[in-house]
Amino acid sequence: MATCGIKLLLVLVIISVCSVYSNPNIYGVGLPLSYVYYTKSDWGGVQSTDVRPLKTPVPYVVIHHTYIPGACSTPVECKADMRSMQNYHISMGWGDIGYNFCIGSDGGVYEGRGWDNIGIHAGPANNYSIGICLIGDWRVEEPPEAMLESTKALIETGVLNGKVSSTYKLVGHKQVMATECPGNALFNIISEWPHFSNKFTRIKN
Ligand SMILES: *[C@@H]1O[C@H](CO)[C@@H](O)[C@H](O)[C@H]1NC(C)=O
Ligand SMILES: [Zn+2]
Repeated sequence: MATCGIKLLLVLVIISVCSVYSNPNIYGVGLPLSYVYYTKSDWGGVQSTDVRPLKTPVPYVVIHHTYIPGACSTPVECKADMRSMQNYHISMGWGDIGYNFCIGSDGGVYEGRGWDNIGIHAGPANNYSIGICLIGDWRVEEPPEAMLESTKALIETGVLNGKVSSTYKLVGHKQVMATECPGNALFNIISEWPHFSNKFTRIKN
């Protein structure tokens, strides 16, 4: 009976290890970089009609909140928010969701324009930054830890893949343009992160 139980346990371990490694949506398994990644097709996005190549590695990462929609805590809610933001941004003539990536309170990373295309999120910084939006209103409330950890891990993925400069500067949207974004509570948090820069300097193209 005991050996049978052990064999069953072994089979279950092998099955679970295999399923983790064969899941293309989990990046950096075993590293502190793991997060669940949802592609545009995972959330039901439509194809971009504004594809302009981003020159990489980018020197800046710009952090946003959405304000509206508010926080989403499950993949079902976050995917619906991605669709509604994409619809809205397309109605503004932007051809796609403005951000390069968004993050949910579930810690999920949701693909926007990705690493290789210029986003529409921070005016003069668009051409040389990755714009990451933390879905929710973070003026007073602080984002959950899972969301912050995934944000850091996503940026680190960009550095490891050569999409973000290893000497990148991290800024909040309000340092680039007149806006409350990314909200004071979130801004105070990112101000403590290692690559934070208290100054955004325009780069001539
Ligand atoms: C940004 O890059 C695009 C495509 O390379 C270019 O057409 C546009 O003029 C650039 N914008 C600015 C503000 O330099
Ligand atoms: Zn913003």
